[in-house]
Amino acid sequence: MKLNSLQDTTTLHNGVKMPWFGLGVYKVQEGEESLHSVKAAIKAGYRSIDTAALYQNEESVGQAIKESGVAREELFITTKVWNEDQRNDSVLEAFETSLQKLGLDYVDLYLIHWPVKEKYKQSWKVLEQLYKEGRVRAIGVSNFQIHHLEDLLSVAEIKPMVNQVELHPLLAQPELRDYCKKQEIQIEAWAPLGQGRLLEHPVLQEIAAQYNKTTAQVILRWDIQNQIVTIPKSVKEARIIENANIFDFSLTEGDIQKINALNENKRFGADPDNFNF
Ligand SMILES: NC(=O)c1ccc[n+]([C@@H]2O[C@H](COP(=O)([O-])OP(=O)(O)OC[C@H]3O[C@@H](n4cnc5c(N)ncnc54)[C@H](OP(=O)(O)O)[C@@H]3O)[C@@H](O)[C@H]2O)c1
Repeated sequence: MKLNSLQDTTTLHNGVKMPWFGLGVYKVQEGEESLHSVKAAIKAGYRSIDTAALYQNEESVGQAIKESGVAREELFITTKVWNEDQRNDSVLEAFETSLQKLGLDYVDLYLIHWPVKEKYKQSWKVLEQLYKEGRVRAIGVSNFQIHHLEDLLSVAEIKPMVNQVELHPLLAQPELRDYCKKQEIQIEAWAPLGQGRLLEHPVLQEIAAQYNKTTAQVILRWDIQNQIVTIPKSVKEARIIENANIFDFSLTEGDIQKINALNENKRFGADPDNFNF
């Protein structure tokens, strides 16, 4: 697999190409902070941006897209429907609001943010409709475990193209990754850097020193060599550039195994089987 540019893509099961690498904007403030981060990322060569209705920064993300000077069709924009809108049966309205805030006429990927019990199958029907109408280029889910996917697939007409989950060296999700691979569902890592908590890990630091790279770069390279789409967040231009500078080296199989061995099924975020929001 060719993995030598920030703009390299994976092909989703419907043929749509999605960059392996993108910028996450969770907890990035609406206004100057989001505008600056997204513009810095696009300037650095990023083509994929991951936002959500929950993040309350879709307007600034949209403004940054417009001001970036990069053609819309070269960008890959993801947003997500929030849990409250699933509970209120207002997924369609939520989509319209996101689109309007982003100032776009389509999004590249629309995700169900969390598997809200008794609701996600119904929500999926709305996403399928949006997909059929051409208002989204791809649809997917987030925080779905294997049993959620099996349940969804029992009624789905269209299989999710992506499952975005918490995934990093301490939560490597090997079973879920295998399952998604078999189902042709592209796995995508949120909190790839463990929300910054993995950067002092001694094993990762040792590997990073060998390649003359930073810990963040080693983790992100581990993602893409494992065919995991990754979307690290930073609001600092130097880190946005640093994080993407992973296309000039390759981890050896031995180092990949060393990182695989760090898995301890440790979550920093909520458990998809037991969340209260
Ligand atoms: N679907 C979901 O439920 C879900 C949940 C959480 C996140 N997400 C998505 O996934 C994206 C990434 O996850 P995340 O933001 O939670 O965590 P993350 O990307 O693992 O980590 C972000 C943290 O690491 C710091 N950081 C980034 N690059 C660094 C570097 N090179 N050196 C040192 N520190 C660095 C950032 O600080 P600075 O900003 O100060 O640089 C920030 O505090 C989110 O932004 C969001 O788009 C999705």
